[in-house]
Amino acid sequence: MNKLTRRSFIGVGTAAAAIAVGQLGKTKAIAQQAPAIRVAQTDKVVNLYSARHYDTDTALYESFAAATGIRVNLIEAEADPLIERIKSEGSNSPADVLMTVDIGRLWRAEEEGLFAPTNSATLNRAIPANLRHPEGLWYGLSKRARVIMYDKSKVNPADLSTYENLADPKWANQVLVRSSTNIYNISLVASMIAAHGAQETEAWVRGLVANFARPPEGNDTGQIQACAAGVGSLAMANTYYLIRMAKSDDPAARDAAEKVNIFFPNQRDRGTHVNISGAGVLKTAPNQEAALRFIEHLASPESQQIFANSNNEYPVVSGVAIDPILEGYGSFKEDSVSAATIGQNSSEALRIMDRAGWK
Ligand SMILES: [Fe+2]
Repeated sequence: MNKLTRRSFIGVGTAAAAIAVGQLGKTKAIAQQAPAIRVAQTDKVVNLYSARHYDTDTALYESFAAATGIRVNLIEAEADPLIERIKSEGSNSPADVLMTVDIGRLWRAEEEGLFAPTNSATLNRAIPANLRHPEGLWYGLSKRARVIMYDKSKVNPADLSTYENLADPKWANQVLVRSSTNIYNISLVASMIAAHGAQETEAWVRGLVANFARPPEGNDTGQIQACAAGVGSLAMANTYYLIRMAKSDDPAARDAAEKVNIFFPNQRDRGTHVNISGAGVLKTAPNQEAALRFIEHLASPESQQIFANSNNEYPVVSGVAIDPILEGYGSFKEDSVSAATIGQNSSEALRIMDRAGWK
């Protein structure tokens, strides 16, 4: 969990373009000079601390470097160790941007006072207001829908309706979901608090826990696999996990994905819960201007297409196509509660889950 990895992304495209513009007609010499020119092009740097652990994100950093000549230095780890590291580095921190895979951790970093307020007409225009902080402390860059997945051979989707309905005793021993330490679940419960208040939410969590097929274990992929294997007939998971399995090189993963379907809950009321992966400029960032430029780049149509194609997430910018396999599962109404409200409710959500016995 505390593993830190470091990588650096250089815009090869930019270097090549600079060579082409600056040294037209000297092709052979250019080839020899290329390494030196690349160094000259990469003296500007954005230091990114990211909890996203998708190799496909490389394309985002390379396209930023290619577009701006600014290199991305990546420090990759889980969000909490990154937050602790930024705190302990204090005013000497080299970090410019913190990126997380959920609103709960953005909220934590905000509470710790790590983010700088920013103002970007580009970001305000591109990203819906409920998916960014009102003072620009952080911005949602991709959406993840937390849905009900069901065993096609056992469950009639007409019997499914809402998250609330999963606490109905008719689903006893059927519900598969990971532990209450998982931030995706905390954010889901936080969205329930926004919809119903704490008391009603606690009653719901107790009913849900009573319907668990097994004590929580594993990640979202593990819940989908267990559902396909018949351990329970319903799994709560983010959609991209299923799409990843459907596209897998492993026939067993593809088989499992084939056995389950996606149900988007709460379509007749507030809509399906969506979380965000997002980022903010750090208060101690040595290079705040480049940091904001980097976040703006991630909200560009080009980057939004990379989010959609590589990790099968939903873009936050309208008009960007989603992955064709994901699209095959249909469109849905999203809960429009603000991500900030979900963040604010997250501590209370965890206390409720603990009290209600969600391990
Ligand atoms: Fe995930």
